[in-house]
Amino acid sequence: KEIAVIKVPFGLAGARNGAELAPDELITAGLKREILSLGYRLNREVRVDCPSQPASVPARRQTGKHLNEVQQVSEKVCHEVSSALHEGVFPLVLGGDHSVGIGTLAGLTAYYSNLGVIWFDAHADLNTEEHSLTGNMHGMSLAAGLGHSTFNLSKIKGAGSFINPSKLVYIGLRDLDQYEKEQIRALGIRAFTMHDIDRLGMKQVIDQAINIAGSGTEGIHVSFDMDCLDPREAPGVGTPVPGGLSYREAHFAMECLALSNHVVSMELVEVNPLLDQNRHTARLGVGLIASVLGKTIL
Ligand code: ARG
Ligand code: MN
Ligand code: MN
Ligand code: MN
Repeated sequence: KEIAVIKVPFGLAGARNGAELAPDELITAGLKREILSLGYRLNREVRVDCPSQPASVPARRQTGKHLNEVQQVSEKVCHEVSSALHEGVFPLVLGGDHSVGIGTLAGLTAYYSNLGVIWFDAHADLNTEEHSLTGNMHGMSLAAGLGHSTFNLSKIKGAGSFINPSKLVYIGLRDLDQYEKEQIRALGIRAFTMHDIDRLGMKQVIDQAINIAGSGTEGIHVSFDMDCLDPREAPGVGTPVPGGLSYREAHFAMECLALSNHVVSMELVEVNPLLDQNRHTARLGVGLIASVLGKTIL
């Protein structure tokens, strides 16, 4: 099996800077060694060229902040992800902030018309430009994927059709804006909040999630926002929220995903090396990717 590592050093759509440093940090933390030792071939390693300074004219408040930059990056990521898929190569996207997920979804929908998505996150990332309280586009990725925001997949060259909300599952939610709560209810999206994980345990949660996202679909895309983890495990994220997943809960979920054989792509986003402690969060991210790719304890 072949992997394309797609590095996207983009952090302008997050709450603070630093996420643009994550792809290199994940490589330094040993990502390629892990991939190779699991028996994969590294088909390619691409670095998407990303703007680091916003263009001189600031975007109007009614659009997301740095809309033009997000659009540019989305189109490049879309192209890289869909090219990999067309060649039968597994795309592994390294963010960057979670706005990178817009381009990933765009590239995935270019190839798959019926995709399941599991979104690991403390946040729902469902805001539209008009409902966002911050204007940060990393909080709008799924609104773009579902076609609810003005900037959405249909504005991205090469993207396919919107993702299906009934094949989308959240895991780890604990910080939702009012509008996002209403949307989750209105759309009937399966959302496993931290309360649900406490009540059911991760085994029930991940089994159900795989069932929803994996049955009757062409496969599962795992979008992994590192802030789904508890900040004690993953301090190096831009928008930490207390009360998140433990080390073992996260690894167990990844191990079950690997055993399901349904995962067709993965992205890992929101590592912020500037806020990290001794590369702890980056190393944790590398370990979680290894678990999705099939690393086992024994
Ligand atoms: N809901 C908040 C916002 O819209 C936080 C979003 C955080 N998103 C993330 N990908 N970390 O700004
Ligand atoms: Mn997110
Ligand atoms: Mn988040
Ligand atoms: Mn919030």
